[in-house]
Amino acid sequence: MVDEEKIIITSALPYAEALPHLGNLAGSILPADIYYKHLVMQGEDAIYICGSDQHGTPIELQAFKRKESPEELAERVHLQIKEQLERFGCTFTFYGKTHSAENKEIVYEVFEGLKSNGYISKIESEQAYCNVDQRFLSDRFIEGTCPYCGAKDARGDQCDTCGRLLNPKELIEPHCVICGSTDISFVRTEDLALDLKKLSPKISEFIERNSGKNWSKNAVNKSTSYIKQGLEPRAITRSMKWGFEVPGMPGKVFYVWFDAPLGYIGITKEWSKEKWASYWKARSTRLVQFMGKDNIEFHTLMWPGMLIGSNLGFVLPTTIFAYEFLNSRNVKFSKSKGVGLNIQSALEILPADYWRFALAYLLPETSDSEFSIALLIEIVDKVMNGNIGNFVHRVLSIAKQSGLQFQNVKADDSAEKEIGKHLESYNLHFEKIRIREALRDVIALASKGNEIMSVKEPWKLAKSKIDEEKQEFLSTITELLFMARACALMLWPFSPRASEHALCYFGISSPKLSDLEKPLALDESLELKPMFNKITETEKAKLEKFSTP
Ligand code: 2FM
Ligand code: ZN
Repeated sequence: MVDEEKIIITSALPYAEALPHLGNLAGSILPADIYYKHLVMQGEDAIYICGSDQHGTPIELQAFKRKESPEELAERVHLQIKEQLERFGCTFTFYGKTHSAENKEIVYEVFEGLKSNGYISKIESEQAYCNVDQRFLSDRFIEGTCPYCGAKDARGDQCDTCGRLLNPKELIEPHCVICGSTDISFVRTEDLALDLKKLSPKISEFIERNSGKNWSKNAVNKSTSYIKQGLEPRAITRSMKWGFEVPGMPGKVFYVWFDAPLGYIGITKEWSKEKWASYWKARSTRLVQFMGKDNIEFHTLMWPGMLIGSNLGFVLPTTIFAYEFLNSRNVKFSKSKGVGLNIQSALEILPADYWRFALAYLLPETSDSEFSIALLIEIVDKVMNGNIGNFVHRVLSIAKQSGLQFQNVKADDSAEKEIGKHLESYNLHFEKIRIREALRDVIALASKGNEIMSVKEPWKLAKSKIDEEKQEFLSTITELLFMARACALMLWPFSPRASEHALCYFGISSPKLSDLEKPLALDESLELKPMFNKITETEKAKLEKFSTP
C-alpha cells in the first residue's frame, strides 16, 4: 500500500526569553501559519508544529538578570508566548516546548545514534572564564567587538549586525556580561562535537537533492557556500547548568542548537505518543520548515547532519524557507515585555487579523522589507478595508437590499473564469511559498470585483423596472457574489476571523477550497456587519506611541 502523503510544517521555535515582536512573527511563525491554513483548506493531512526554545544562554542570562531560575522563567514565558500566539490567530497542531521529557528522550536517542555511527568527536577548546564570577562564560555571557564588521555588541556565538557565527576568542576586547569585568581567561576544556567534516559529503548530497524543492534562494546560497568553504566539527556541549545534561560528562549540557531542532520531533511526540512517528518516520512525509535567515545554517547543515548521522529513520527537511528581515526605521520593536511593539502590545491596539494582513503584505520573502506605522495604516485602510472589506460588504449589502433570495445559485461562465484565473495563481504562489504574492491574488480579485461594480453600478440596476435591466442586475450581482465569496475564502489563511465572519453569510463554517465549486446560498437571516474597519483616531494615537521620530 502506498503511504498517503503527510506534511509537517514547522516554524523556528521562539526563545522562551521574552515575547516575540512583529519582526519575529513576520520572519517565520506567521508565514508558516498562513501556509498551514492553506493546506488545511486544501484538505491535506498536515500538522503545524512549533514551541518554545527553552534552553541556551539567553534564557540563563535573562533568568540571572531577573533573579529567577532558568526553568521558572522558561516555563512562565513559554505560557505567555503560547497564549499570545493563539490570540494572534495561529492554529498550531501543537505548541510545545524543548524542555520536555519527550524531547530529552529524542535528544539522547539521536546522540547515542551519532555516537555509535562515529559522528561524535572530541574537541578541546579554550573557553572564556570570568575570574570575578568564577564561572565559564558561554556564548551570550561574553560580549565584545565583532572582528568582521566592528559592531561593538557582538556576542560570543554570533554577531547580530553582520550575522557571522563567532567563537568567543575572536571577540575584540571581550567582557563578562554578568559583572562587566574584562578579567577573563581562556581555559582549556574538552567538549563533544558533531563531526560535520565527516558528514559533509552526505549533507552536501542532501542539499543537492532537495534544494530545488522550493527552498528560498538565501537558504540555497548560504548552505552551498558554507559547504564550499569546508565544514568543521562543531561543539554540541557547553559548560553550563541549564539544559539537558550530557551523559557521562558532569558539568556539561547539550548546546541549545543541538536540542532545539530535535524539539520539532520532541514537540510532535509531546502532542501525540500515538501519532508522532507516523509523521516523522514515514518515507512520504514532506517536511516544510520556515525560519528567519539567521537560522539557515543550523537547519541546512547541523540539523540534517544530526538526522543523517544518527540514522534513526527520521524524515529530512524537504523545503527550507528562510525569510529576510522585517526592518523598521521608526518603530520601537522590543522583545522585552512592555517596552516596544511586541505581540501583546500590538494586539492590545488592533485585532490580530489587521496585523496578520499588514505583515503578510510586507513579508520579507526575497529581500528585507520596511515596516512603519504609516505603512500599516495605509495597508489596513486602503487595501484590507478599502479594497477587500468594502467589496465583500457592499456586494452582500446590495444583494440583501434587493430582497431577492439567493439559494442554490450556480456560477455563470464569467464568474467561474474570473475566479479560476485568480485562484490558479493563488494556489501556484502557495505551492512555491510565495505567500505575499498569494495575498496579492486575493487583492487582485477584489479589485476586479470593485471595477465591475463601478462600471455596472448594480445598486442602480436593482431599482430598475425595466426587464432587461432587472436581468442585468441579477447576472451582475450573481457574478459579484461568487467573487466576494471567493475573496472571503481565499483571505482565510491571512485574516481568519474576518474571513469566517463573512463566510457565515455564505453558509460556510470551516472553509475548504472545494467550497468554491458549490452552488451559492446566502443566509439572509443574518445581520450584515463589515468585515473590517478603518483605523480609528484613538487607535492611531495608540500606535503613534510606538513610533520614534
Ligand atoms: O533563533 C531563534 O530564535 C531560535 N530559538 C530558533 C530555533 S529553531 C529550532 F531549531 F528550534
Ligand atoms: Zn564576570
